[in-house]
Amino acid sequence: MRLGLRLQLLLALGVLLVVAFVPLYFAVARLAEASLASAKKSAARDLGRAVAGHVLSSAARGDVSTLLEAQTSESGVLAIAVYDGAGAQVTVAGAAANLPAAVTPGKEVSQVAEGPTGPVLLVVVPGADRSCALVIALEASTGRMPLVRIVALYTGVIALALLVFAYLAMTRLVVRPIVALSNAAERVAGGTRSLEMPDIGAAELRELSGSLRQMTERLLSDEEALRGKVRELEKTTHDLASAQESLVRTERLASVGRLAAGMAHEIGNPLAALIGLEELLMTVDLPPDERKDVLIRMKRETERIHRVLRDLLTFSRTKTADAPEGGNASVATVLAEVLALLAPQKEMREVTVTNEVDAGVPDVAIAAERLQQVLLNLVLNAADEVPRPGGAVVVRAEKDDDTVVIHVDDNGPGVAVSVRDKLFEPFVTTKEVGKGTGLGLAVCRGLVEAAGGTIAVAESPEGGARFSVRLPRVTERQAVGTGPKRVS
Ligand SMILES: Nc1ncnc2c1ncn2[C@@H]1O[C@H](COP(=O)(O)OP(=O)(O)OP(=O)(O)O)[C@@H](O)[C@H]1O
Ligand SMILES: [Mg+2]
Repeated sequence: MRLGLRLQLLLALGVLLVVAFVPLYFAVARLAEASLASAKKSAARDLGRAVAGHVLSSAARGDVSTLLEAQTSESGVLAIAVYDGAGAQVTVAGAAANLPAAVTPGKEVSQVAEGPTGPVLLVVVPGADRSCALVIALEASTGRMPLVRIVALYTGVIALALLVFAYLAMTRLVVRPIVALSNAAERVAGGTRSLEMPDIGAAELRELSGSLRQMTERLLSDEEALRGKVRELEKTTHDLASAQESLVRTERLASVGRLAAGMAHEIGNPLAALIGLEELLMTVDLPPDERKDVLIRMKRETERIHRVLRDLLTFSRTKTADAPEGGNASVATVLAEVLALLAPQKEMREVTVTNEVDAGVPDVAIAAERLQQVLLNLVLNAADEVPRPGGAVVVRAEKDDDTVVIHVDDNGPGVAVSVRDKLFEPFVTTKEVGKGTGLGLAVCRGLVEAAGGTIAVAESPEGGARFSVRLPRVTERQAVGTGPKRVS
């Protein structure tokens, strides 16, 4: 358990005061005791001298035994004796245990000894022709004397007052500002930014509070800058998304352009035939049978033009960029549509496109329009590279766990080394200006990845390039009762 700042402070101050005041108390108490003892000793000596003076002056006049008896009943005098001029004991009264049997004449003695009931003072006072010796009880210091108790009380009160004062001062100068700062820091951590920092406590703490305020302000401005960056990033992402969208449209238009060039050729031939047949009808009066024959040929040519135009319209109306991201597509169906669209194209002459997609291959999770554009690009690319005559493009598809892999293989020369590493980047092309924009594969990758798939290039079994598109397959649950999903 962690103790709070106040409690720790109180404990530290308590320990400090105990360490400082307990030895002080003992020193003062010992001093007081010592001075009291010496005062008692000198009082006892004075008493001894006074009594001895009285006894000696009485002894010069006669027998003192009664006086001695009377003196021993005085408080504190335990024993008393008179010695003759040679120092031999003459008369004695009281408990003689501590009295010497003889004294040195003319020599004053004052010494502390241990009596049967406690410390005693032996006082020998020499007179003109006699000496007197007394044993006076020195009261043993039982327990602490009142003075010592006062010292204890005094030091205790001072220590307590110091403790309270130091605690209050420390609380005001340190604890309260630190608690306020810590609360403020907690509020910052909790997300508050417009913060009123406490301006209290010692100078250093005020400085700290000022630094914290500056830090919060910096944090605030950094956060604001970050928000600005995020907004910028969002805008850039949005711009990028619309740029990608327009890239897809551009590529689409380029493909339409290429197709249109092929179409012009496709339409030009039947149109020339039609003009010839019309002229024949107008200038020559044909018999009904031949006339009908000409009309049938004219109808066939018109139908040819109509079919070509319809296919082109179908393709150009499919706004791939706007096509929904979800949806399912049948690989076989989409491929059949693409091949039908490409069949009349000039580019496809002398190129055999084989559809080896098994009908049992599951549907893939991508909008049909998107898959159509991907396959169209891949087959057109392959057709551009294969040799003529003898060009061969094979489209295969196989199920692989949760995905379907579509391979577009050709017997061309394979991908040129110069572009192999950046093949799927926009505007990477080996074709001459006007023939290719280099957008086809970039757009393919965008469409495939948006559907959660991948596109890669390798070598085909036919010796040319193999472009493999891996797409997630539609699970049975997704497929039940759903056509292509429209995302609004
Ligand atoms: N099947 C292939 N065999 C060999 N090289 C290929 C094949 N497919 C693509 N490439 C190479 O990749 C390049 C880029 O193809 P991409 O489809 O991105 O652009 P492009 O075909 O040049 O122009 P466009 O924008 O008209 O499609 C091509 O120029 C070509 O060099
Ligand atoms: Mg291309």
